[in-house]
Amino acid sequence: MSANLRRPLIAGNWKMNLDLRQSVELARALKDGLGQAGAEVAVCVPFTSIAVVGEVLKGSPIRLGAQDLHWEKEGAYTGEVSAGQLLDAGCRYVIIGHSERRRYFHESDEVVRKKLKAALAAGLWPIVCVGETLEERERQQTFNVLKRQVEALAGLAPAELSSLVIAYEPVWAIGTGKTATPEQAQEAHLFIRNAVAGHYGKDFAQALRLLYGGSVKAENIDSLMAQPDLDGALVGGESLKPVSFLRIIHFQAPARSGAR
Ligand code: 13P
Repeated sequence: MSANLRRPLIAGNWKMNLDLRQSVELARALKDGLGQAGAEVAVCVPFTSIAVVGEVLKGSPIRLGAQDLHWEKEGAYTGEVSAGQLLDAGCRYVIIGHSERRRYFHESDEVVRKKLKAALAAGLWPIVCVGETLEERERQQTFNVLKRQVEALAGLAPAELSSLVIAYEPVWAIGTGKTATPEQAQEAHLFIRNAVAGHYGKDFAQALRLLYGGSVKAENIDSLMAQPDLDGALVGGESLKPVSFLRIIHFQAPARSGAR
């Protein structure tokens, strides 16, 4: 499959923001303002907002997603939410292994893998996050970290993985206003694509969508999306602002034809 067949995906990660009223307002503004978008669009909202946002987005191509899940199907796991419950609530996408979860909730590669398997088994589309910290980058460990994080996704059945999306989110660029340069992002994306090819073959890797995340905004999305291995963005802070997020969705970059 050629790179042209990777339809860009612009996903918002609302993180732990917005009450119900604010969630409804933002979802409405996005739905009303979307127009004709070349990119696929998703919003990954807090658990508490899933139902109301799902209601607002009915009839809109904007897809609903969650920010985490538990790997078990059901049972005595107080505070957790399963893949089946997310699907039932109207979610299509789920973010897995965000650096904030790895950092504050000690999620290991093993946990990420378990969550990935659970999401795939339930039919949710996973957005798995990878990326190095500033310290790792400064110690020239970026590629080792990415290699290890991608390795944790190996050994699954490629057919099951067809919905997989990987987001490269350098931790030093998240919420800091420091974006990776388009060249830094491209270098990391190409590395990830090659690492995936090593596990799943070239065709699979060429069809895989790789998102960039970390201080994406209206001002930098065009130059990021001009890079050949960037297939979209996972947007935090700016996804809470409808005008900015809509501009990001309607990025200007060399045309990509077709859709996956
Ligand atoms: P910011 O866009 O706020 O830097 O957050 C990026 C992110 O973590 C998306 O998942």
